[in-house]
Amino acid sequence: MEILDLRHFSSADLRPLLEEEIAVWGRLLSWDYATSAEMILRYMDAKILPGYAAIERGSIFGYSFFVYEQNKGVIGDLFVRDGGRGPERHEVEERLLSHVIETLQQSPGIHRVEAQLLAHNTGEVSRPFLQQGFSRHPRVFMNFEIGKHPQASQPALPPEFEIRPWSEQEYQSAAALITAAYRGHVDSEINDQYRSLGGSLRFLNNIVRFPGCGAFDPRASFVVFQQRTRTLAGLILCSQVRPDVGHITQVCVLPEYRSAGLGETMLAASTKNLSERGFRFISLTVTEANDRAIALYKRIGFKSTRVFDAFVWEG
Ligand SMILES: CC(C)(COP(=O)(O)OP(=O)(O)OC[C@H]1O[C@@H](n2cnc3c(N)ncnc32)[C@H](O)[C@@H]1OP(=O)(O)O)[C@@H](O)C(=O)NCCC(=O)NCCS
Repeated sequence: MEILDLRHFSSADLRPLLEEEIAVWGRLLSWDYATSAEMILRYMDAKILPGYAAIERGSIFGYSFFVYEQNKGVIGDLFVRDGGRGPERHEVEERLLSHVIETLQQSPGIHRVEAQLLAHNTGEVSRPFLQQGFSRHPRVFMNFEIGKHPQASQPALPPEFEIRPWSEQEYQSAAALITAAYRGHVDSEINDQYRSLGGSLRFLNNIVRFPGCGAFDPRASFVVFQQRTRTLAGLILCSQVRPDVGHITQVCVLPEYRSAGLGETMLAASTKNLSERGFRFISLTVTEANDRAIALYKRIGFKSTRVFDAFVWEG
């Protein structure tokens, strides 16, 4: 087995492996990975996707790539084909990750590396990260089966608040809300975009304008205002990750307006909209340490389906 730079290869070399990965994401996460896969293949052909490929008998059977975002490296993916002869899958995953981590840690100007490996169970590939000084944050993938929860008990919003569909006009205020909602929060250790207005704008851009986390679904996304002050108090953003699955990519409420039912009302509004449009499931990810959010999701009917890891290194 050899580990080679991904940029030596073309999309035709990687496509068969990505087709297997699409099947794995569908099975484990009810997530159609095809759009992300197409994006990866386009980057491959443009020879601009940094990463490594594991090669056996001339073909790619594992890969990992990363992207640079200003002073940060983000590990985008890791996938190794299972079974067959040749080296153990786990060993290959660790070797690929070690190469990626070493490259990023030695890249001039890179002071931070982040990774979230949704399709890998917690602890499964943590060794190379922990050896290189990363911290690990277990995160929970949760799923809600819409048909099992009739919409009878819609919570009422306190009268001073108003819920409205998401609008692009809210871009700046939404970024300010995200920054305020995550101040001192564990999720801003995992994703440093939450720590500044500019970072939160980039986060919003990634969610709303790019298909990296599913196709943004404005109809299932909402904002809550406090009427008197016209303050944006909360928001929920939803993407479509499969024709019948919505994914909550963001839900947050300003600290001073919490525990008043805003979070639950926004989740109910997204659920109602998705249900009316024939969606069957809603998924989301939440940091295990965020016990209040988890308590809220469980109370509503979300079930934990898997635990994966987020890793962070700061040089
Ligand atoms: C999670 C979050 C969106 C919930 O919004 P919310 O408007 O407070 O939610 P609700 O009022 O509908 O439900 C609150 C319930 O959730 C829990 N809860 C969540 N955050 C809470 C907080 N800061 N204080 C008290 N209870 C909280 C409690 O169980 C609470 O029940 P209670 O109202 O009976 O006390 C909000 O706490 C938040 O913005 N947190 C920071 C960002 C975040 O963690 N987002 C989720 C990422 S996956």
